[in-house]
Amino acid sequence: MEAKNQLFDHVAQLLDEVKAYAINDAASLEQFRIRFLGSKNILKDVFAGIKDVPNERKKEFGQQVNAVKQLAEQRFSELEAQFKQKETDNGADVDVTRPSQTKPAGARHPVTLVKDELMQIFIRLNYTVVDGPEIEDDWHNFSALGMPEDHPARDMQDTFYVSTEPPVLLRTHTSNVQIRVMDALRKSGKQPPVRIVALGRTYRNETISARAHCTFNQIELLYIDEGVTFADMKQTLLYLAQELYGEKTTIRLRPSYFPFTEPSAEMDVSCFVCGGNGCAICKHSGWVEIGGCGMVDPVVLENCGIDSEKYTGFAFGFGLERIAILKYKINDIRLFTENDLRFLKQFEHL
Ligand code: PHE
Repeated sequence: MEAKNQLFDHVAQLLDEVKAYAINDAASLEQFRIRFLGSKNILKDVFAGIKDVPNERKKEFGQQVNAVKQLAEQRFSELEAQFKQKETDNGADVDVTRPSQTKPAGARHPVTLVKDELMQIFIRLNYTVVDGPEIEDDWHNFSALGMPEDHPARDMQDTFYVSTEPPVLLRTHTSNVQIRVMDALRKSGKQPPVRIVALGRTYRNETISARAHCTFNQIELLYIDEGVTFADMKQTLLYLAQELYGEKTTIRLRPSYFPFTEPSAEMDVSCFVCGGNGCAICKHSGWVEIGGCGMVDPVVLENCGIDSEKYTGFAFGFGLERIAILKYKINDIRLFTENDLRFLKQFEHL
């Protein structure tokens, strides 16, 4: 009888203990949990004593142990919420030293870097940035630019045709934008000045190699006004070269031919790697070729309804990959389109 009463007394003591247990922080709450609710909690031991309780009181004993357990659970869940709230309020569960999850950041493509730089240079010179279609008709890509039907640039081998009747093609250069801009000027009933820069993708049916690709980007410049001269073009090109490759850069214009400019020239810049002394980049000539330029052919102006007696202009078109290759010393043009992260990541800091 004694022993049995002791069992009931012990349960009563535990009930008091649960009621009076001093829980002031997360640590004491954890101790409380281990003692009354953990996997080896004291109530389990106490309940094991039920075998010594006479049958008629077993139910009562079970209920009392259960009451202790329920109270413990209730206190625990109330206080748990309270401490959790406190910890969050104090910022205690925010570890500010924990390294954040990094999201892989993209980098700008080297051609985009060059594009942006060129755009900025010409915006400073008050040029307007315009866009043109990459899928073009024969007129804008060839005919209006003074290319007769038997011109080599129109050869099927050079050009990707989307359809041949009527001829629709992937533009072979950004010079189509010249015609589009002059057409738009005529349609709006306005007269020059025209001062535009266009940057975009072009296509040619070339065998892909380290030096040539079937798709590349160009920058196109067109300036038309009264009294625009070759000297204006030269000065603009010099400014461009110095902005791109540094103040010491000089330029050289070599006579050349384009159907839509007269006179025409190829522009070289003094090699910015060796300063003109000769190195691998300039193939020991001291000069690197950048692209073509010239005075807009009067025929082209007349094709677009601009009075060639009154207005003159210059244009130039350079390959952006070429500029990027020289600027970042890239040795294979195919790298620009391969999407190899090892290549692209090198431009992360730029
Ligand atoms: N469109 C020419 C090319 O792609 C470059 C050029 C543009 C030349 C404008 C002169 C004037 O080769």
